Amino acid sequence: MAPTKIRTVGILGAGKVGTVLARLAISAGYEVLIAGSGDPEKIALTIDVLAPGAVPAWPAQAARHADLVILALPLSKYRSLPIDEMAGKLVVDAMNYWWETDGERTDLADPETPTSQIIQTFLPTSRVVKAFNHMGYHDLDEQARPSGQAGRKAIAVAGTERADIETVEGFVESMGFDPVLAGSLVDSRKLQPGWPAFGANLSAGELRRLLELGPADRPR
Ligand SMILES: NC(=O)c1ccc[n+]([C@@H]2O[C@H](COP(=O)([O-])OP(=O)(O)OC[C@H]3O[C@@H](n4cnc5c(N)ncnc54)[C@H](OP(=O)(O)O)[C@@H]3O)[C@@H](O)[C@H]2O)c1
Repeated sequence: MAPTKIRTVGILGAGKVGTVLARLAISAGYEVLIAGSGDPEKIALTIDVLAPGAVPAWPAQAARHADLVILALPLSKYRSLPIDEMAGKLVVDAMNYWWETDGERTDLADPETPTSQIIQTFLPTSRVVKAFNHMGYHDLDEQARPSGQAGRKAIAVAGTERADIETVEGFVESMGFDPVLAGSLVDSRKLQPGWPAFGANLSAGELRRLLELGPADRPR
């Protein structure tokens, strides 16, 4: 499979992370469609202020027109994703199970099943890659910088197909971060809450070191 050419990014979720990623994607030169849970009119002013240049859309519309779809909505809402419009698409899963937001959900909290695998199962023909989930939105906002600039931070990427991983690594690079391969979708658990790499706002070398640790290890 050849890497996907990305021109249009569809972001599902117009909250803290979605608007930061929209702003970064606009700066990187992509066309951006962004959706909240419903009518685009509800987010128009927010987008105008926080991510000027991005186009508010319905979720299905944002997914249909995107070369790459980013999931930036509460994980517990995943069943409302526009599954038909996402068929065959490359999907970047930036979501986490966060019980304060998502509520107590045993189906999302099984340590043996990474949440990105749950999303992949729900979207059987989409190609899910996990990225942008481990860094807080303030850090995503403040730490993006051009390639080669001192102090550049890293974003971990985990997925199944080599070509999709490469595409997302290139996308991460264009968004202002060094991509670090975290492994397969099974390995994406290492990016989840409870693991050392969760919350990382670190260089590529430091992030790689954390990815080698187990859930109970404390980073030194
Ligand atoms: N906050 C962080 O620092 C951070 C960092 C990395 C990853 N994450 C993850 O990113 C996700 C979003 O977090 P957040 O902090 O940005 O949440 P947030 O500020 O509460 O925003 C959530 C957004 O998702 C939208 N949404 C809900 N259901 C939707 C649907 N079916 N389709 C499209 N959009 C929908 C909401 O729209 P309505 O207002 O219309 O409901 C809202 O715009 C979570 O899974 C979180 O774990 C968060």
